[in-house]
Amino acid sequence: MTEPFRVAIAGLGTVGAGVVEILQSNAAQVAMRAGRPVEIVAVNARDKAKERGVDVSAYEWVDDAAGLAGVEADAVIELIGGSDGPAYDLVKAALAGGKHVVSANKALLAHHGTELATLAEGHGVSLNYEAAVAGGIPIIKAAREGLAGNKMSAVYGILNGTSNFILTKMRESGRDFDDVLKEAQDLGYAEADPTFDVDGVDAGHKICLLASIAFGVQPEFNKVRMRGIREVTSADINFAAEFGYRIKLLGIAKDRDGLINITVEPCLVPEATPLGTVENAYNAVVVKGDFVDTPLLTGLGAGRGPTASAVVADIIDLARGLHVPTFGIPAKALKKPDFIDPATIKQHYYLRLTVTDQPGVIADVSAILRDHDASIESMVQHGRDPGQPVSVVLVTHDVKRGDIEAACEEISKLKSCLEKPYLMRIEHQL
Ligand SMILES: NC(=O)c1ccc[n+]([C@@H]2O[C@H](COP(=O)([O-])OP(=O)(O)OC[C@H]3O[C@@H](n4cnc5c(N)ncnc54)[C@H](OP(=O)(O)O)[C@@H]3O)[C@@H](O)[C@H]2O)c1
Repeated sequence: MTEPFRVAIAGLGTVGAGVVEILQSNAAQVAMRAGRPVEIVAVNARDKAKERGVDVSAYEWVDDAAGLAGVEADAVIELIGGSDGPAYDLVKAALAGGKHVVSANKALLAHHGTELATLAEGHGVSLNYEAAVAGGIPIIKAAREGLAGNKMSAVYGILNGTSNFILTKMRESGRDFDDVLKEAQDLGYAEADPTFDVDGVDAGHKICLLASIAFGVQPEFNKVRMRGIREVTSADINFAAEFGYRIKLLGIAKDRDGLINITVEPCLVPEATPLGTVENAYNAVVVKGDFVDTPLLTGLGAGRGPTASAVVADIIDLARGLHVPTFGIPAKALKKPDFIDPATIKQHYYLRLTVTDQPGVIADVSAILRDHDASIESMVQHGRDPGQPVSVVLVTHDVKRGDIEAACEEISKLKSCLEKPYLMRIEHQL
């Protein structure tokens, strides 16, 4: 066999220890596929004394993460996390020093992708990040290589396993968000600070990267519109089921004749579609290509095994000598995206109102919707309790987002409207 491919690993937490484990236990398999042995030469984490469940005593310990950029290695594997700080400093230093980089860090790539891709190219090295999007699902490889012959018009999917787990448990048990979040935290599916997962930020990082690959644009994370699942109630889930839908937190990127829209939001998805049936902590991603139609990949999007598996696949590609530009095309060819005004996009909507049960309320709401070009496809109200709060749910035909939001604003000013109307997009065209 030829010379070993030498890697230096920064971060020995959930993913880093998983990578060490795979490289140790599947060493022969990895070497066969890579065409050469893959050798860990140095490691770094914060606490040298911490028990990690894997033996790292044979490798050089480097105290400072940035110091890994200076060791004799072919690639640096960044598994620290965070969009800035030590991860950013290390990746920049490694690329500038002519080392390939593998990272699982979606935040870093979403915030600094163009700069890092340019740096990698300028130094003739690769920046791979399969593990950063949907963990064990090889979606970066699929979009960047397998589907490269297509003009892609959309990429979308369930990109956050924690949110999908919570929505699934809410549906199955009838319990509300806070209660299920606590269970998810106890089971280790959600972090103590669940903000990134349940508020759509994590999915926002991922869809931002997928949009860059699909549409050949620079990642602009600050333009991604994000809304999470905190306001989804078990009542919404039941109402959605009555209409034949499941609620999913979707990352959606669409290219409409060169105008791009990237969002993360809870959406109603028809129950009988492939996305509608993806439950628990599973992820699923669809790419819409002009010749391939809509292939869907599904699997576990996080966790030690699936994520480390993706990191090792990236390492094997590098050891084989397979190099693909960070976002699939040369960094200088990445366009600055032009974004569509979201207010102009037409869509069906689900609208939940909490109103006083009294004569004339529905007539008032209907008049406001009519005045904003929104027509009602169906409406549900459960029970009657004159003078008391009651939930009324409406499903609209196609209406511009700007119009339905303006209508909601007006409805919220009605005396009979007791809570802010809650609006969710219905995605039929998935
Ligand atoms: N966990 C997943 O399922 C998953 C899935 C997809 C992508 N990712 C991404 O993978 C990356 C790592 O995630 P993780 O879950 O493995 O995180 P983690 O378990 O918290 O591990 C982070 C590691 O980085 C080390 N570290 C933290 N700050 C450091 C610093 N200033 N200098 C040096 N080392 C430092 C920690 O050292 P100590 O151990 O000594 O504290 C730890 O070993 C993140 O970018 C994450 O977004 C994770």
